[in-house]
Amino acid sequence: MCGVVGYIGHRQAQANLLESLARLEYRGYDSCGIAVLDGSIRVLKDVVRVADLAATSEPLEGTSGIGHTRWATCGEPNQANAHPHYDCTRNIAVVHNGTINNHQQIKARLLAGGHTFSSDTDTEVISHLIEENYQGDLASAVRATLNQIDGSYAIAVIHHKEQDKLVVARCGSPLIIGLGEGENWVASDVPAILDYTKKVIFMEENELAVITRQGVRLWRDGREISPEIKEVEWTAIQAQKGGHEHFMIKEIREQPRIIRESNSVLAHSGGSDPGLIEILSSNPPPTILLLACGTSYHAGLIAKYLIQELLGLSVHIEIASEFNYQRHRISEDLGIIITQSGETADALIAMRSLRKEGMKLLVITNVPGCSASRLADETWYTRAGPEISVAATKSFTAQLKVIYGLLLSSSRLDRRDRDRLTGAFRHLPSNIQQIIDNHQDIQSCGKYLAGYNNVIFIGRGLNYPIALEGALKLKEISYIHAEGCAGGELKHGPLALLSAETPVVVILSRDATYEAMLNTIREIKVRGAPVIAITPARESDIDNLVDRVIHIPEVENLVSPMLNAVALQLLAYYTALERGCPIDMPRNLAKSVTVE
Ligand code: AGP
Repeated sequence: MCGVVGYIGHRQAQANLLESLARLEYRGYDSCGIAVLDGSIRVLKDVVRVADLAATSEPLEGTSGIGHTRWATCGEPNQANAHPHYDCTRNIAVVHNGTINNHQQIKARLLAGGHTFSSDTDTEVISHLIEENYQGDLASAVRATLNQIDGSYAIAVIHHKEQDKLVVARCGSPLIIGLGEGENWVASDVPAILDYTKKVIFMEENELAVITRQGVRLWRDGREISPEIKEVEWTAIQAQKGGHEHFMIKEIREQPRIIRESNSVLAHSGGSDPGLIEILSSNPPPTILLLACGTSYHAGLIAKYLIQELLGLSVHIEIASEFNYQRHRISEDLGIIITQSGETADALIAMRSLRKEGMKLLVITNVPGCSASRLADETWYTRAGPEISVAATKSFTAQLKVIYGLLLSSSRLDRRDRDRLTGAFRHLPSNIQQIIDNHQDIQSCGKYLAGYNNVIFIGRGLNYPIALEGALKLKEISYIHAEGCAGGELKHGPLALLSAETPVVVILSRDATYEAMLNTIREIKVRGAPVIAITPARESDIDNLVDRVIHIPEVENLVSPMLNAVALQLLAYYTALERGCPIDMPRNLAKSVTVE
């Protein structure tokens, strides 16, 4: 939700800021803008994508500045509301990711005091407050301003009288500082700076930094501290399309490699340092609370099923945003939070309240140094590499892989199930590769679905969450209304929607639910709705019953969600491609949802 960048060094800031912004566009793309210090402050901003701003903008001379790519919250996406925002005198420019809760009261007071505003955003109050607080030192003025606002922020600020510095601060929204030789960067996320440096300071809550060409000074809660410098593992290549048409298809195609590389991690997870996960083996049987949002929640539903079925533990799962408004709840022994970005506001709010209660928290995340990992007692990384497309794909299967790793870590898992899982994982990368290589049937189903306005996905058991995920993926990138539902629930309501105009995607599992699902298909067919079946290769009897079939390789049913997920990712991709949708950046969405 909004990307913030900043640069100070010896290169031209304009090109540098725009390149960094382009790498953060997945965080929001309603508008974008930059401000460069060139003796004064020069601002370029518009309701365009970063590439268009780069192509059309006049050259700005200057070697320091800030930039922003916006996901609109307060104030519609228009030129005036695009960041950077100024004060009255245009001496100060501010970019901001977050929400200022008390902006209306502050704005009323400032207006009464003679300030004039040029946008509807909450952010603009920050620049006016800094103007009011400025007495010759930008850092002090920012500090005083932050004491007056209530909300979340990652901000970068420049002042025309202090050409040699950026002042940045974080509270509730992520911010990192990249370190170079005679040049430094600031950004909301690591991909923005990977082209330039791998040395990073992950800013913590309530930290403020002054960044110059020579270095960084950092304060936490007003006290100066020495920054901890980390080396990031991600590479610039990982965050590029590398010849693929979209990030989404690149990320789908990366899955066999990610699962192959992780097989050693799975083997290790049963090893010498089980950490928090030993709770899964302890007695009396522990209870687990799972929290997540969106696609990560679907991974959580599969985790619940597997932990209950294979370890016999009681698992309670909640969508994080719903959990945050519950008044009465049971206290479980272990909280597991699943979040690709590690910055999802709803998940972080839940984590903070669980921490206060003293619950042990384990996070499954993809982003090193993310806020969730800093709130957790222990972090298991999915190691999928940067995921740029707004639609989560490789991070989902990588989350599942970690969940299987957790199961394998528990001594509660019986020998037979352990063998079934480890055996299945050996072949999983090549099974997934097969689906990707033989994508023609899926592509043709995508072309077919592209002509419809409504699609229903059904699955049962372990593959019910996959039906939810298939529907989410399709609606998110192709804008077709899609609904996921449990196979057995169809007759309790959704059946009323069926007609020749409403195709149903049926995910078949080779388990006790198989026959019941065949009956469901018959019930759908007699209502005239077209059926696309996703089924293990061996089930050729299905071919005569349905309109189209996507055969997936025959695998141990416990890992079938991994294969079905990939097939449905491809289905959504090819449907959206056929409809000419902006696949990596669907309208109204952003990659990490840092607002509640
Ligand atoms: C998935 O395709 C979505 N873009 C979205 O549902 C996402 O999974 C959700 O916002 C949760 O994000 P997180 O995993 O980073 O917490």
